[in-house]
Amino acid sequence: MLSYRHAFHAGNPADVLKHLVWIQILDYYSQKDKPFMVLDTHAGAGMYLIESDMARKTGEWTTGIGKLWDLPEDELPEAVARYREIVKAANASPALKHYPGSPWISGYCTRFADPLRFFERHSTDAPLLAQTMKFVQKRTQINVADGLAGLKALMPPPARRAAVLIDPSYEDKTDYGKVVASLKDTMQRFATGTYAVWYPQLARREAVELPERLLKLGVPNWLHVTLSTQPAAGDGLGMTGSGMFIINPPWTLPETLEHTMPWLAEHLATNGHGEFTLDWQIQ
Ligand SMILES: C[S@@+](CC[C@H](N)C(=O)[O-])C[C@H]1O[C@@H](n2cnc3c(N)ncnc32)[C@H](O)[C@@H]1O
Repeated sequence: MLSYRHAFHAGNPADVLKHLVWIQILDYYSQKDKPFMVLDTHAGAGMYLIESDMARKTGEWTTGIGKLWDLPEDELPEAVARYREIVKAANASPALKHYPGSPWISGYCTRFADPLRFFERHSTDAPLLAQTMKFVQKRTQINVADGLAGLKALMPPPARRAAVLIDPSYEDKTDYGKVVASLKDTMQRFATGTYAVWYPQLARREAVELPERLLKLGVPNWLHVTLSTQPAAGDGLGMTGSGMFIINPPWTLPETLEHTMPWLAEHLATNGHGEFTLDWQIQ
């Protein structure tokens, strides 16, 4: 029984980081005139209503996209401007009413020949996702199945090009180990794809160890970025930020993030707490 619903968190600082980076990856892949597969192992509902009871209950979007929505265009770093442009494209009105999830962003940023493969196991979110993705229905497959098993089944992709987003809810602490094992297996099947793993920054041992375990896979090209916008709570529990570990990042991504992350940490800071880390190896 899955209880996590992304609608409570849509548009928060973790989504800003994840979606900004994901857009950079999609844009990079789209530069080449050759199709690529998009695979989203944990897709969610694809679009979220900012005024829904769930989003209103937490108000998390006010600490993320809400802080960027009205800033003058010329104050934004290029990658933030591109991210906001896409969120604005998901809104018919000038007001922020909808926040797009990774599947909608993938549909919007890709071409007619790029296949979209989504996995979502929640019985409520999977039909919502199908509804959201109607605008690219012909090239979309939605599977109500385990996303990491789906990754195993779909790699290598026929076109030998793929951008993969791995974004579990980590409701179950075994998810961390499953992500590592799945990527280890995937490196044997298709080592040249781009794999973007999102994870929460929590005091939990499994979360702290995840980037180290991914590094130990020994891939030659990787990038690790974190953004922390919340001081740790007194009890040490709760999420303080999030990170992304990317295998085979676009070679342009380090420079883009060097330029973007200081700005993002400053503008999304809570009570003056905004920090980032950025490391990479590209051979
Ligand atoms: C963090 S949310 C995804 C958010 C989405 N990637 C985005 O950025 O808009 C994680 C989703 O994974 C789904 N999920 C949980 N376990 C899963 C599994 N084993 N396979 C596929 N989806 C799963 C949850 O129902 C939830 O909707």
